[in-house]
Amino acid sequence: MEAIHGELLGGFRERFGRAPVVGARAPGRVNWIGEHTDYQEGLVLPSAIDRDTWVLATPRPGRHFRVWTRDLDEAGAFDVADLEGERRGEGPAGWLDYVKGVVFALRERELDVAGFDLAIASSLPLGSGLSSSAALEVAVATLLDGALGLGLGPEGCARVAHRGEQRYVGVACGILDPFACALGRADHALRIDCRSQEVRPIAVPPGRVALLIAHSGVTRELAASAYGDRVAECRAAVLAARQAGLVPGAGALRDLSPDDLPALAGVLEPTLLRRARHVITENARVDAFCAALGRADLEAAGALLVEGQRSLAEDYEVSIPEIDALCADAAELPGVYGSRLTGAGFGGCTLHLVAPEAAAEVSSALAARFERRFGRTPSILEARPSDGASFVSL
Ligand code: GLA
Repeated sequence: MEAIHGELLGGFRERFGRAPVVGARAPGRVNWIGEHTDYQEGLVLPSAIDRDTWVLATPRPGRHFRVWTRDLDEAGAFDVADLEGERRGEGPAGWLDYVKGVVFALRERELDVAGFDLAIASSLPLGSGLSSSAALEVAVATLLDGALGLGLGPEGCARVAHRGEQRYVGVACGILDPFACALGRADHALRIDCRSQEVRPIAVPPGRVALLIAHSGVTRELAASAYGDRVAECRAAVLAARQAGLVPGAGALRDLSPDDLPALAGVLEPTLLRRARHVITENARVDAFCAALGRADLEAAGALLVEGQRSLAEDYEVSIPEIDALCADAAELPGVYGSRLTGAGFGGCTLHLVAPEAAAEVSSALAARFERRFGRTPSILEARPSDGASFVSL
């Protein structure tokens, strides 16, 4: 983290011919469990991780932004006035759209945004399912909040980042990613109730757990992917349940419990039933997982991850062969409690709950097996649950 900050300082001076005066960082995240539940007002359990995105900046006269990303060595520019009420155009979102989305959301709140020269660098792999986009959005929101004294605070920055992603970038995502990046707490997971937006830190048993994250090497384009189809299928399931008179007040799948599944089976067509079953049972798994962590019962926690993966693969159909293989291979290795995909799926990463003394061995065995199957080396990192975003004056 410090290394990135140092390198980016030099890059900033070269690019803009002066020194940055403010900076912010925001971490990526993993989600232990509670996948595809946030947009149905359900429960999620992410941790921020010790890989992050840095932004450094200096104010400019006027309301113009010049932005440079060190990792891609690309530059872009925009005027704050261009973003007032204007959503982005068609086509896949680019890195600059995430910066613009934050400014868009701030203007929507009628907050005054001045111009900046701004440089970005990240230790998060892009598009890997570790929330590189939310980390960028939250970092920019945190930077502008601190530099302009907007008084948003971490939760406000998370909401602004979320609003920018939904309204400007155009992804119908939930609050999981920005809340995790903004509010993460070292050595904890966050149980977030996406309806009340209550956040409860849950301690990860100290010294008992290593968290491995393996990247399948398959990246996804969230906006253009089947993610939107899943969001729509969930809405259709809620509507059908309501029309059939099941749980009349149901506004989201959050309102249904595993006890409602037999009745739902009578009214939903098979695909919608499987989608609903995933979300409904996944909410229950979040609380069971929190309880298992509370008892330091890692066997039980691992079994819930395995069950979650089965549900994501079979009922929600968001897994891919590389992710299935990483989970199946890990299940055969000593010291692995459980594994599943983390994030939206269709590619991205797996997380593995592992005994710390086995972590190095598991990591190399998993990489070797993956290489034999797919002919390429997966990147596997050990991550630590970390603090959320922060602002610095330089
Ligand atoms: C992506 C979205 C989140 C959430 C997850 C799936 O990361 O950005 O809002 O829906 O997928 O749990």
